[in-house]
Amino acid sequence: MQAWSDADWKVFFEVHSGLPRENPGDDETTKKAYQTLSNLPEHPHILDVGCGSGAQTVALAMLSHGQITALDVHQPFLENLKRKAEAEGVSDRIQIVKGDMCAMDYAAKSFGVIWAEGSIFIIGFEKGLHDWKRLLTDKGYLVASELSWFKREAPEEIQKFFAEVYPQMKTVEDNLAIARNAGYRVVGWFPVPESSWWKNYYAPIEAKLPALKSKYQSNAEALSIIAWEEREIEMFRKYSAYYGSVFYILQAQA
Ligand SMILES: C[S@@+](CC[C@H](N)C(=O)[O-])C[C@H]1O[C@@H](n2cnc3c(N)ncnc32)[C@H](O)[C@@H]1O
Repeated sequence: MQAWSDADWKVFFEVHSGLPRENPGDDETTKKAYQTLSNLPEHPHILDVGCGSGAQTVALAMLSHGQITALDVHQPFLENLKRKAEAEGVSDRIQIVKGDMCAMDYAAKSFGVIWAEGSIFIIGFEKGLHDWKRLLTDKGYLVASELSWFKREAPEEIQKFFAEVYPQMKTVEDNLAIARNAGYRVVGWFPVPESSWWKNYYAPIEAKLPALKSKYQSNAEALSIIAWEEREIEMFRKYSAYYGSVFYILQAQA
């Protein structure tokens, strides 16, 4: 795929703004992952990396009774998070930071939990696990959801699609090996249910596309971005047995 222009990103954010989540997921799934963590302090300090509009940030604030540092590069998403946190009465426990996950200079052992829903792919799963470990307290947790193959063999069409959009995608087994090699104990893992892909993510995107197609009917570049969105959704409809978003719940070892 060619590098995107500013105009392409504008259309992308038009498609992706105002969604309940910017990634497949929901509060139940966030809760399921959080509840696998044991022996946390009463008020854990959690770093939510690539928090987006912060649906999971607010859920984590409620689940943990802790302090959350929520970091993202995209200011409009952070403004949504601010509004959401105020509406839910948890804004005093959420510190919102505009920053780059690839250049986080927090002191060593600053966080009991690092949370990355659908965002670790940006730095790279393996690099994120390596680089962020120093930020965790002893036996701290890293929880990340990451697109993963469920099977080593898959139909050619879906293999070609991901060779273009996310060639770094690994199998669950390979990601578990990467985690162990990076010095983590695997507490558990589970796929985000298919229903969570549709409810908060693909269904709301699909609902927006007809109006955007009509708005950009004479703009070929914008229409090609919209066509990519449609193709991604079509691929999931056809091939969700072969890949999905997987939660990895990992604990740092000394
Ligand atoms: C797929 S979204 C996931 C958002 C949210 N965690 C969720 O599950 O809805 C990925 C997020 O990473 C953010 N992002 C992209 N590059 C980033 C970077 N270098 N540092 C921090 N955040 C980044 C995007 O703005 C976006 O909000």
